[in-house]
Amino acid sequence: MQPYAARDLLVRTFYLDGEQAFFIADPNTQRWIIGNQETRDLLQCADGLQSERQIAERLAASPGRTEELLGLLINEGLVFQDKTLFRKQCMPLVCDREILALHLEITNQCNLRCTHCYLSSGAKKKNELGLQEIMDIIDQLEPGSGKKLCITGGEPLLHPDFFNIIEYAAVTRGLEVDIYTNALLIDDETAARLQDIRDRAPFGINIQISIEGADAETNDMVRGKGVFDKVGQAVNRLINRGMEKNIVLFVCLTKDNISQFDALVTMAETLRIKALKFSQWQKQGRTYETSWADKSPTSEEWIHCGHRLLSYPHRDTILLGNFWGDLKNDSHLGFGLTGKLFPKLVCNLKVAPRIDCQGNVWSCQVFVDQASIVGNTRKTTLSQIFSDRPYKNLFRLCTERESHITECATCQWKSFCGGGCAGFAYAENENYHMRDFFCSIRTYWLEQFLTHKIEQYKLQRWSAAANF
Ligand SMILES: C[S@@+](CC[C@H](N)C(=O)[O-])C[C@H]1O[C@@H](n2cnc3c(N)ncnc32)[C@H](O)[C@@H]1O
Ligand code: SF4
Ligand code: SF4
Repeated sequence: MQPYAARDLLVRTFYLDGEQAFFIADPNTQRWIIGNQETRDLLQCADGLQSERQIAERLAASPGRTEELLGLLINEGLVFQDKTLFRKQCMPLVCDREILALHLEITNQCNLRCTHCYLSSGAKKKNELGLQEIMDIIDQLEPGSGKKLCITGGEPLLHPDFFNIIEYAAVTRGLEVDIYTNALLIDDETAARLQDIRDRAPFGINIQISIEGADAETNDMVRGKGVFDKVGQAVNRLINRGMEKNIVLFVCLTKDNISQFDALVTMAETLRIKALKFSQWQKQGRTYETSWADKSPTSEEWIHCGHRLLSYPHRDTILLGNFWGDLKNDSHLGFGLTGKLFPKLVCNLKVAPRIDCQGNVWSCQVFVDQASIVGNTRKTTLSQIFSDRPYKNLFRLCTERESHITECATCQWKSFCGGGCAGFAYAENENYHMRDFFCSIRTYWLEQFLTHKIEQYKLQRWSAAANF
């Protein structure tokens, strides 16, 4: 064996009872360890070119000691038997994985004119996809696979074939279906039809309802007068049919509603709904008519909400939100200080593409501008679109962009972050080669994680010494 450890390890020095110690993390595998000088030296020597014996000689250590330490580091996932094994465990910053979900906008027509609507929805567009074309798209997700189809718009319930589409996707094809809706059209009859489909769909349906605040005044500022009360009635109709675990409430946080964070959590928990999802305004569509500085929460506000989210006990309602700038290391909240892995932003570029009502395809829901369209479902299949040049070019751009961003070039976190989300960066700046808004939020949580682990380690050492 020619042991190999990553060449771009993050190393942070600290002191414990006057002794030097090192926190060492591998950005490729998200594994980390706390060790001493001996650990650090061994990781440096494990370059995939030297045998165990050569390493022991170089470190002037006994072969037995080197073998023992290597075994420990292999166990911890910091050292690999050789470079090939290491490569297999690496998680690149931008992944080219299979499609697991589709966001399908079945119409641009809408019965509201929300001030933030990134699609500026309202009127039906010319030449929107027909029922057969929509079914042909749905057919491209393997039946019974549990893959997800998010039916959105505009307002999808306005589509004359809405129930045919849901029936086909959720029941006939056995997909998990999410319906993104403003809920205005959920009357008793619609609630009954949704319940009936829910009961027959093998992977169920989720009804994701958008609100913009915990009270009528805040919500209706964005969605229009009287909307909050109507949404409340729709939610009650679904709950009365035993559908609370099919309801997801979705809130875009802004300066106007971020102070209602706790009230929104309480509301969701009181209703005992499945989940409450927080998102952020994306600078697109009708948001251009609003002053961005007046609406966008500050980094401090995001961080405060992140702390609140981490402090909630895990209850019946799932709480989700991008409070960590897309860092992931935990299956529960996405990010956690108790998570085993070191946090990292991994962009799954085409895992959930967006398809608009005219069949245009984007690699991800965050991409909205015309310049990043990668194909059209009227011309070819999704699998062809994601093998063609426009997608390949975008993929390359996303993998390389960090090297074009001045601030990222010297950043210690670049291998864990890659310059953030390309889509957000473009939406905010019309330029891919810029950091996204979440840069300072990510660095905050990366530091928090590292500090938390070092503090925990110190406590364990002290309590072990005390017991001794
Ligand atoms: C475009 S709407 C379509 C579905 C439905 N009409 C609704 O409002 O839920 C889908 C989701 O996008 C959200 N949204 C609209 N504009 C946005 C923006 N500028 N940034 C982030 N999310 C936005 C809406 O709040 C909604 O939750
Ligand atoms: S956010 Fe939804 S409800 Fe509001 S205008 Fe856009 S599509 Fe319509
Ligand atoms: S500067 Fe910000 S965006 Fe760039 S790599 Fe560092 S943390 Fe990420």
